[in-house]
Amino acid sequence: MLCRWLGGTWMMMMRMMIMRKSMKLICLSQRDCFIEQIENIRFTGLTNSKIIGITSTNSKLFHMNVLNCKNVTLENIGIDAPPESLNTDGIHIGRSVGVNLIGAKVKTGDDCVSIGDGTENLIVENVECGPGHGIAVGSLGRYPNEQPVRGVTVRKCLIKNTSNGVRIKTWPGSPPGIASNIIFEDITMDNVSTPILIDQEYCPYADCKAGVPSKVKLSDVTFKNIKGTSATKTAVKLICSVGTPCTNVALANINLVHNGPEGPAVGACANMKPVLTGQMIPPACTEIAKPGP
Ligand SMILES: *[C@@H]1O[C@H](CO)[C@@H](O)[C@H](O)[C@H]1NC(C)=O
Ligand SMILES: *[C@@H]1O[C@H](CO)[C@@H](O)[C@H](O)[C@H]1NC(C)=O
Ligand SMILES: *[C@@H]1O[C@H](CO)[C@@H](O)[C@H](O)[C@H]1NC(C)=O
Repeated sequence: MLCRWLGGTWMMMMRMMIMRKSMKLICLSQRDCFIEQIENIRFTGLTNSKIIGITSTNSKLFHMNVLNCKNVTLENIGIDAPPESLNTDGIHIGRSVGVNLIGAKVKTGDDCVSIGDGTENLIVENVECGPGHGIAVGSLGRYPNEQPVRGVTVRKCLIKNTSNGVRIKTWPGSPPGIASNIIFEDITMDNVSTPILIDQEYCPYADCKAGVPSKVKLSDVTFKNIKGTSATKTAVKLICSVGTPCTNVALANINLVHNGPEGPAVGACANMKPVLTGQMIPPACTEIAKPGP
């Protein structure tokens, strides 16, 4: 709204830039606007580093943003914000290689950990998440020239009282992209609305090209040893792109229960067929998955 006076291309560019959740357009006067990054803490361009015991409380937008880092370990991180605070992602990691997030307690109003484009060889371990929106790869495919996400391991985490558990989200109508070799394992869910979620029709605002398939290619994605309780009936929801089919998405040893008047938990799928091993509660793909909450 602030930049209504800007015409054509500039307006588009400004809009595109401020869509990134960690940015805000600040206008001092009608013709004097700038884009401010708003995070409580940003770690940029670090190599071979350790960050231990940092706490962030009540950020305006992202709490911590780890960007362009290489071989960086974050340990014993604390994040605290109310569940109703918008876009307060806990720890965002993007365009970084070899980041280890080992030990964090995250209570916030958006994703506890979000994993952006250009992330390679990431380990997320011993994270306690909730309230919040869970641990997410993405969103991906919103902007041109996004770099691949390759090699993400999320393990030994407790996700409690959140709207999602572990998920991958990509925008419809996206440019081509890649997300591969992603594993979520040994995760406990406690009262999580959708514990396991792939959403390649992710569309939180009205402006996305709904109906145009995502071109982000998902491959070699594993959800393994995931147990606990689902707050809604659809405990496992897997929606892949109809235009760029996902390949080798696997579910292994899943035990997610739901107690509610609508009956026991179900698994729903669209445009995909997962590889199944071990225990499977709920049974996979007994329903057709629909986008949205
Ligand atoms: C990674 O960083 C650590 C310091 O946290 C350092 O000890 C180690 O040698 C680095 N590894 C490489 C391959 O550079
Ligand atoms: C779960 O979250 C809701 C709202 O986000 C909150 O009101 C409730 O107290 C939380 N329950 C627990 C056990 O943390
Ligand atoms: C479960 O989560 C929902 C919202 O996410 C919340 O309203 C409810 O109080 C929670 N239940 C328990 C037992 O924590």
